[in-house]
Amino acid sequence: MTGSVLFERLGYEPHQGQLRFHASDARFKVLIAGARFGKSLAASHDVLRDMLGRETRGWFVGPTLALARPEYDYLVLDARRRLGLAAAREFRSAQGHRGLTLVNGAEVHCLSALQPQGLLGREIDWLVLCEAAHLSRDAYERFLRGRLVSRQGRLVVATTPRGHNWIEELYQRGLKARPAWNSFRYATWDNPRVLPAEIEEARRTLPGPVFDEQFGGAFTGASGRVYPEFEPARHVLACDPPAGAVCLRGIDFGFTRPFACVWLYADHDGRICVFDEYYRAGGTALDHAREILRRDEALAARDILRGTSSADPAARAEREALAQGGVPNQPAENALLPGISRVRQALLPRADGRPGLTVHPRCVNLIREFEGYVYEEIRGAGEPLPVKGNDHALDALRYGVMGLCSRADWRKFGLLW
Ligand SMILES: Nc1ncnc2c1ncn2[C@@H]1O[C@H](COP(=O)(O)OP(=O)(O)O)[C@@H](O)[C@H]1O
Ligand SMILES: [Mg+2]
Repeated sequence: MTGSVLFERLGYEPHQGQLRFHASDARFKVLIAGARFGKSLAASHDVLRDMLGRETRGWFVGPTLALARPEYDYLVLDARRRLGLAAAREFRSAQGHRGLTLVNGAEVHCLSALQPQGLLGREIDWLVLCEAAHLSRDAYERFLRGRLVSRQGRLVVATTPRGHNWIEELYQRGLKARPAWNSFRYATWDNPRVLPAEIEEARRTLPGPVFDEQFGGAFTGASGRVYPEFEPARHVLACDPPAGAVCLRGIDFGFTRPFACVWLYADHDGRICVFDEYYRAGGTALDHAREILRRDEALAARDILRGTSSADPAARAEREALAQGGVPNQPAENALLPGISRVRQALLPRADGRPGLTVHPRCVNLIREFEGYVYEEIRGAGEPLPVKGNDHALDALRYGVMGLCSRADWRKFGLLW
């Protein structure tokens, strides 16, 4: 059955971008596009042709099973309901792997890269990498690529981009290594079924690089970032507290890793300004206390008042040592993901277009960490966690922001949380 006859029977009318993708007979096809472009649908229909023609074996592999399911479900639905094909056999493993054998002997499996043992040993005729930008290069190179060799199998990579990771290289390869490879890149709005209003809403509310990546399908380097909202052009601003302001501190301890303290205050609108940082590896609690007091005195000389210091609750001995050095402090709220979420909310633009949190350019370490703080590769069904390491000033900031949120007069703003 030719592609167009099959698509007609399925009631599938590919849009222009999908048509170009289907028309290519490259063995390796890389389809990069914004959310809801129709990648999953197109990938699934593309390989369904292979299943009908011959006794083939194919895999949908995702970073987790859930992320490989849309492609698999589209295919099973089409095979059964639209083409009325009987399944000779269906299976489901204890780990949740699913699969189906058609009466012609063609097989499809839905697999997760989290269980690499499921990815070994079999030769396959086609492989679709679903949400491939969240797969590790290692999973692809060690467990997947080799499966295609002996049967000259073909590969479809379908994904929204995610920063400048290995998928971008694969995409570049597809541009250069034709005709065996072919790459395609589209935006969400290349799917005419997505409403323009929806896209405009996203354009308005997302930071530029995130919108360009998630909707524009561009390799922007925005993703995997814990704070994608942070853009130096928008958030770095020479803000300083006025006389009478009450300043808070957030403190994260470290000895071989840096000790970090940030100073912040909230203006009458509840906008947060982070106006100073102290960041130092080595040094004792007394050294740190002395430096913090020195800066506080300079602030006091400008009639700026000292508010509470919120510090890492896990470091009790360090907090006490700091208090003995003259810097009283309280244990901060330490839940990581809720804290990150508050900082992210604060970074968003308000109705007037200005963000709710700005950082003074002198806070060079905080700015660097904002830009470099990224999530780990997805490992499980749960929420991914940030990569530990360059997060000292950011942890201090999180403690400071949580300290600010717990103040009664702050709640009256009722703006963000
Ligand atoms: N050619 C098409 N005809 C009809 N609906 C489509 C077409 N392409 C995509 N869609 C629909 O658009 C939505 C997004 O498609 P999907 O393949 O899941 O997108 P992606 O994987 O790119 O996020 C789905 O509801 C899908 O059914
Ligand atoms: Mg999809």
